[in-house]
Amino acid sequence: MARHLITSALPYINGIKHLGNMVGSMLPADVYSRYLRQRGHDVLYICATDEHGTPAELAAKEQGIPVAEFCAQAHDAQKAVYDGFALAFDYFGRSSSEQNVEITQHFARRLNENGFIEERAIRQVYSPTDGRFLPDRYVEGTCPHCGYDKARGDQCENCTRVLDPTDLINPRSAISGSTDLEVRETKHLFLLQSKLQHEVEEWVSRHEDDWPQLASSIARKWLNEGLHDRAITRDLDWGVPVPADTWPELAAEGKVFYVWFDAPIEYIGATKEWADLDPENRDWKSWWYDVDTDVRYTEFMAKDNVPFHTVMFPATELGVREPWKKVDYVKAFNWLTYYGGKFSTSQKRGVFTDQALDILPADYWRYFLIANAPESDDSSFTWEHFTATVNKDLADTLGNFVNRVLSFSKKRFGEEVPAGGEPGAAEAKLGEEIARLLAEYEQQMEALQFRKAAAALRALWSAGNSYLEEKAPWLEIKTDKDGAALTLRTAMNLIHLYAVVSEPFIPATSAAMRQAFALPSDTATWISADEARTLTALTPGIPFTVPPVLFAKLTDEDLENYKERFGGSPE
Ligand code: 2FM
Ligand code: ZN
Repeated sequence: MARHLITSALPYINGIKHLGNMVGSMLPADVYSRYLRQRGHDVLYICATDEHGTPAELAAKEQGIPVAEFCAQAHDAQKAVYDGFALAFDYFGRSSSEQNVEITQHFARRLNENGFIEERAIRQVYSPTDGRFLPDRYVEGTCPHCGYDKARGDQCENCTRVLDPTDLINPRSAISGSTDLEVRETKHLFLLQSKLQHEVEEWVSRHEDDWPQLASSIARKWLNEGLHDRAITRDLDWGVPVPADTWPELAAEGKVFYVWFDAPIEYIGATKEWADLDPENRDWKSWWYDVDTDVRYTEFMAKDNVPFHTVMFPATELGVREPWKKVDYVKAFNWLTYYGGKFSTSQKRGVFTDQALDILPADYWRYFLIANAPESDDSSFTWEHFTATVNKDLADTLGNFVNRVLSFSKKRFGEEVPAGGEPGAAEAKLGEEIARLLAEYEQQMEALQFRKAAAALRALWSAGNSYLEEKAPWLEIKTDKDGAALTLRTAMNLIHLYAVVSEPFIPATSAAMRQAFALPSDTATWISADEARTLTALTPGIPFTVPPVLFAKLTDEDLENYKERFGGSPE
């Protein structure tokens, strides 16, 4: 079995993320990791908070606490929400860790030795009103490419083009709004990406055919625009310090690396954090170093992150001239919109992950979000769609099936899997259907086609309902008690199958379904095609209990309440 390294874009430390962030990175990474683990693969799923940079500094200042303290608290707050969503990271680290400092400095030294870093004097935007140099993203203005008037100095959110603050039309300070900006000279380190253009192109061309179109088209667009040398240091207090052994002068001035330089390196840093924590953990380097074909590396991210992970970070890795593992597959997502408008952390529009969990348990969100993941296009979150999906797929198709089968069987046959009857044509037809749908589900999961995988899972649940309707054990029992027992036993086998195969999507509900049956030992991690075809793993006499309602049905009143609380349409 292959070893799978999985990472999802590191959530920025500043603030709890919204559902759009969740569906475009961590949640699908978790679903995929869970699936691979169930299929017996050796999986390492790593994520972390991305903690450096000005937004963290400013947020700490606003709260009147040191930035290190702010980050420690904010990390714990985010981690608590991710635990609530049942994200099963192998490790969730912090980019401000000493491990990341060490590896980032190592990368910078190696890039320098290899001639890919140069010290240059640059002229940088200084705001006398704010009393500081303004980092790129804190200069705002109009994008010269698309005319978007809230473009940031580092990147235009609207057209995703990478910018320089001096490109902006009508620039202003994003901190104070001041347009009294001057340009002053200061020294910084530059990563000579232009020298790596051909190597990155060659590397991308070897991979892009395997990547989803969204990822390869963004990488291509970026390469076609040409790789530019980029300043990788900043004048900030909070960040990975420039190593004094290599750049004494810059270190003395207190320069730190740019957050986008050290953040991707934290994928490696966090792996070392994980390994350092427990001697039982595998050597961190065995996941990252000189493992070109031994490890398959899949990254999950939204489309704004794609240029950094398909071009910029690979350029860094190539320039280091050491065999660091580079990404094999980039699973990129479009945007989840809120009623067609933007989910926005800064403008507090949409549903935040902590609020979501206040309303309903994680499985409701996990299923809905993955079933509607913005894979081939943007997709829109509406409360109407959410409540309708929960009611139809989760409450009716799955939850009600489980409850009906177990309650009815308990009433008529007691609290054990009923004996009697021999599988016939209906069971053979059902078995074929389940085996076919399970194969479809597996195929879509292997292909990381999450919406299609969700559709296959839903079809598996529906097949149980059709079987039950067809056999109608509540009528059958009047004339053929053994027949009714067979139907219910077969349906219980379906419930057990659902428990196993639904786990990547709805882990808590899956556990509840599994625990309904007191199997002497339930070690099934997956269901074979043969088991799916025969549906006889649960044998007569196994005790069961009827679990509490798995999914509550959402009412019109709930819908109105959600819309009132969060707004039912975009601004
Ligand atoms: O876009 C973001 O939110 C960044 N914090 C993602 C960083 S991903 C990785 F490179 F660290
Ligand atoms: Zn633009």
